[in-house]
Amino acid sequence: MAKLIINANEIITLKGSDKRPRTKEGMSELAILANGCVLIDQDQIAAVGTLEELQQDYSHLLEQAEVIDAAGKVVMPGLVDCHTHLVHGGTRENEFNMRLNGASYMEIMNAGGGIHSTAKSTRNAGFEELYDKAYRHLNEFLKYGVTTVEAKSGYGLDWEHEKKQLEVAKKLQDTHAVDVISTFMGAHAVPREFKGREDEFVDIIIHEMLPKVAEEKLAEFNDVFCEKGVFTPEQSRKILEAGKQYGLTPKIHADEIEPYEGSELAAEIGAISAEHLLVASDEGIRRMAEAGTIGVLLPGTAFFLRAPFARGRLMIDCGVPIAISTDFNPGSSPTISLPFIMNLACMNMGLTLEEVLTASTINAAYAINRGHLIGSLETGKKADILILNVANYKQLQYHYGMNHTHMVLKNGEIVVK
Ligand code: NIG
Ligand code: FE
Repeated sequence: MAKLIINANEIITLKGSDKRPRTKEGMSELAILANGCVLIDQDQIAAVGTLEELQQDYSHLLEQAEVIDAAGKVVMPGLVDCHTHLVHGGTRENEFNMRLNGASYMEIMNAGGGIHSTAKSTRNAGFEELYDKAYRHLNEFLKYGVTTVEAKSGYGLDWEHEKKQLEVAKKLQDTHAVDVISTFMGAHAVPREFKGREDEFVDIIIHEMLPKVAEEKLAEFNDVFCEKGVFTPEQSRKILEAGKQYGLTPKIHADEIEPYEGSELAAEIGAISAEHLLVASDEGIRRMAEAGTIGVLLPGTAFFLRAPFARGRLMIDCGVPIAISTDFNPGSSPTISLPFIMNLACMNMGLTLEEVLTASTINAAYAINRGHLIGSLETGKKADILILNVANYKQLQYHYGMNHTHMVLKNGEIVVK
């Protein structure tokens, strides 16, 4: 059955963004329609326009459409969270307290906590337990208006458990309303049992894991934690180049804790995105702009680790297409509230209210190769739509730390109201 959203104060269409991610001034063009309508036919957007315009061309659909009154509200594309570690076992609130008492994130990890601690919990958890936990997290994402989530593996760190994580993500994609896009991240940490034999683990990723990920079609992207004490730029390059041979698109956790030329590497190998970038160099930023590498910024991580925020303002001014995401994970960013993360980007990275909307919709969609399908309200795109209980889009961040969701539609179906 068709649906017709009417009377919205503002429809943030982000129209005109169907070829490539937005840069510079393009990030401020929201293409807002006042008092317009969105017509939905099954799982797709049939048209966006005034009621008069739609009555001319779509009278057959309008006659039988279920009407959704959005008077006084804002309608926008469903939010896209393009960087999460959705599937994992356990929680790490004790480490949070250790950090409040002065320990650093890398100290905790090098002492066997951090990613290693979650790897242990994830290895010990059964498939159903991981699935149920992640399913509940997806329910929460949906309540905040997030309709697509990227999910990285990387807490298995051996094939048996990496595969389990990826298969959980696959089952979530098949069973949950939220779309789950999979990234293989076997190179998230060197497992404890490979200490001192790091290159051996790199070889296992390249020769044993990557071929199986491709053969079993378990992921679209391949990510590496390129960081001092984790994977070197040389190891990262090898893993990402090998992934390309198997059709996996490279992504990089780059320049998160210490500058390590991860952003330069991302640009050089044609990664779709470099993510984190807290301490990316001027040169790295310049090269990303030149190569069109998307900068996925994760302000929740800087906030929660009390680290310097990525230079988002500078990156946009230099022409890097910017996306914003939660980095949802049990260590460095245990929140699913993308609207709160958007607020952090405004307050601490210098993004404007317009840029942050672009960064969490159409640009985030491009960061997971879905720019042609989601991230804007345009004819033919998926009917993934968020209706907000605010009078204009500026109020979404002005009334910060609140959940303004009124209704969420996914593939044309009402999933939250
Ligand atoms: O994106 N930096 C590496 N990976 C995650 C954190 C994972 C964890 O602490 O469990 C991140 O911040
Ligand atoms: Fe991450």
